[in-house]
Amino acid sequence: MKRIKVGLIGCGTIGARLAEVITQEIEGMDLVAVSDLVEEKAMNLVSRLSSGITIKSIEEIAGGVDLVIEAASARIVPEVVISAISKKKDVLIMSTGGLLERLDLLESARQQGVHIFLPSGAIAGLDGLKAANSAQITSVCLRTSKPPAGLKGAPFIVEHGIDLDNISQPKMIFRGNAIEAARGFPANINVAATLSLAGIGPARTKVEIVADPNLTRNVHEIEAEGDFGRIVTRCENLPAPSNPRTSYLAVLSAIALLKEMTDSVRIGT
Ligand SMILES: NC(=O)c1ccc[n+]([C@@H]2O[C@H](COP(=O)([O-])OP(=O)(O)OC[C@H]3O[C@@H](n4cnc5c(N)ncnc54)[C@H](O)[C@@H]3O)[C@@H](O)[C@H]2O)c1
Repeated sequence: MKRIKVGLIGCGTIGARLAEVITQEIEGMDLVAVSDLVEEKAMNLVSRLSSGITIKSIEEIAGGVDLVIEAASARIVPEVVISAISKKKDVLIMSTGGLLERLDLLESARQQGVHIFLPSGAIAGLDGLKAANSAQITSVCLRTSKPPAGLKGAPFIVEHGIDLDNISQPKMIFRGNAIEAARGFPANINVAATLSLAGIGPARTKVEIVADPNLTRNVHEIEAEGDFGRIVTRCENLPAPSNPRTSYLAVLSAIALLKEMTDSVRIGT
């Protein structure tokens, strides 16, 4: 199998861990370039890893690589995908919420033969949902429950003046579709985006967000119904060691996807 050269955008919680795994654990994959808005973060990461990794700008990163990994911000996702498609490079996107208003890019990638990889992130059940999508799915609902502090600063909370400090029992604070959820909770809701793209699309995927003061973990529950029957999943996520806003399972799902790319055995849909 041909070795895969990787360029990484974003050297934070997810990016730094993926960089370590690529350089230390994945046979057949080489990290050749990294980029970060904060150059010091890129420099720190490179100095910790093996030599031969260069620091580049986002515009330059797709040159000389086979795969671009975005682990930075939803805002730059369209730019990253457009650049990857124009250079015929595959791309793995972590900030999947950034794709919701640019679904045309998925079609462009298909037409150009470019792969876009979207890890499952912090949820379970995408395997079954993808299989179910080969027949009719009638409904998909994601209920995300978080400790109130985990929702602070989200545009929906700010716009509606929701006082998260005085919530004493579980409270449903948002109900809408995945597009509305991505706008209102851009830093929290990549799972809704990924779920909707794997299932019945962002307009039909329902999202509920609950602020629950009894929780110490972020909980994602999925309920889907269709010709196949019914799927119910529940993930109780621990945070990643260096970022309380990122679930550790999301980091692990990207690692698993990268490992699968270099493995000739593929398990699950
Ligand atoms: N798919 C999922 O389930 C899932 C789960 C968790 C996080 N995420 C998303 O993945 C992304 C990374 O998460 P994280 O926990 O590593 O965040 P983080 O804040 O720890 O790291 C992000 C890094 O990207 C850099 N960055 C930000 N904007 C940039 C830009 N425009 N250009 C270059 N670098 C930039 C930051 O300086 C930082 O080093 C976030 O957008 C987050 O929302 C997705």
